[in-house]
Amino acid sequence: MTLDATLNIFRAIGEETRLRIMALLLRGELTVTELTLILGQSQPRVSRHLKILADAGLVERYREGSWMFYRAADPHAAPPGAATVFAALEPLTRAEDRLIARDLERFQQSREARARQAAAYFEANAAEWDTIRRLHLPESDIESRMRALIGDDPVELFVDLGTGTGRMLTLFADRYESAVGYDLSREMLAVARANLERAGVAHAQVRHGDLFSVPLDSASADLVCLHQVLHYLAEPGAAVKEAARLLKPGGRLIISDFAPHQLEFLRDDHAHRRLGFSDEEVKGWCRASSLELFATETLSPHTNEDGKLTVKIWICAAPALVRKLKTHASAA
Ligand SMILES: C[S@@+](CC[C@H](N)C(=O)[O-])C[C@H]1O[C@@H](n2cnc3c(N)ncnc32)[C@H](O)[C@@H]1O
Repeated sequence: MTLDATLNIFRAIGEETRLRIMALLLRGELTVTELTLILGQSQPRVSRHLKILADAGLVERYREGSWMFYRAADPHAAPPGAATVFAALEPLTRAEDRLIARDLERFQQSREARARQAAAYFEANAAEWDTIRRLHLPESDIESRMRALIGDDPVELFVDLGTGTGRMLTLFADRYESAVGYDLSREMLAVARANLERAGVAHAQVRHGDLFSVPLDSASADLVCLHQVLHYLAEPGAAVKEAARLLKPGGRLIISDFAPHQLEFLRDDHAHRRLGFSDEEVKGWCRASSLELFATETLSPHTNEDGKLTVKIWICAAPALVRKLKTHASAA
């Protein structure tokens, strides 16, 4: 590493606001608006600091529609030395300092406000959710592809994270011995219970619970599902990590969500936070959770007037299982 590059990192980090920003971004990604509110500083000022941190390779930014997201750089992709700086900053994130403690408290409040906004949306739309879902997804195509992609391996326990109205529990009902779906919305769960009963699915249960801390033992599930959930979350990568924790060594995670898109109104009208995800981003979460992306499926959008959304299905598994599945596929 050159003297200049080293100096760049130390100059970038050697300032109070930038240290505060790094302490926040090491907790999780934020938009510039959220950072401005947390720090109590003007947007141009915060943007200037962020540019310095980004130029030094300590922060990554990405635009999605009209929102700009910032996060601490991936230590594997950041300049040499960044990982050491992040490690040195780690004690700061424990909030021993008064100012940092206040920032982190506001960070938490911002996350909670966001979660409340999404919860209010689901509360208001629980009864109509199945109809809303059909508006923007070619549902039957997606569901048949999901069933094909999970394969025929026996599934003792299926876990559906953010189960909503329990649609995935019904869809896979003939594939598992038992299942549990978790959701934070009691209104959604009430609809899910009625749907399961109507479909005669007695071997699945739904529980009120946060998908970021599921009350199940590690390595207990054969199949975990995150269907149309990640785009509501502030920390989608953390959801994948929790899903990975639940998987048995031979288990698989199935994620279905949108490919990157520009339909900004979904944020205002339907509480979306993220406008879809790229394969690269999903691969990154898998890497960070010791999973590997095994299969990707892209389902073309509807052709009707609202149909600008491409749906993706990603199947992830532990690397050893992926090697085995790939060997079988090439031998067949
Ligand atoms: C768009 S719905 C999808 C429901 C279902 N997976 C489906 O495809 O029909 C997203 C669901 O995620 C739930 N959710 C959001 N954040 C959650 C969290 N932290 N823990 C559990 N559920 C959550 C919402 O309450 C909502 O029911």
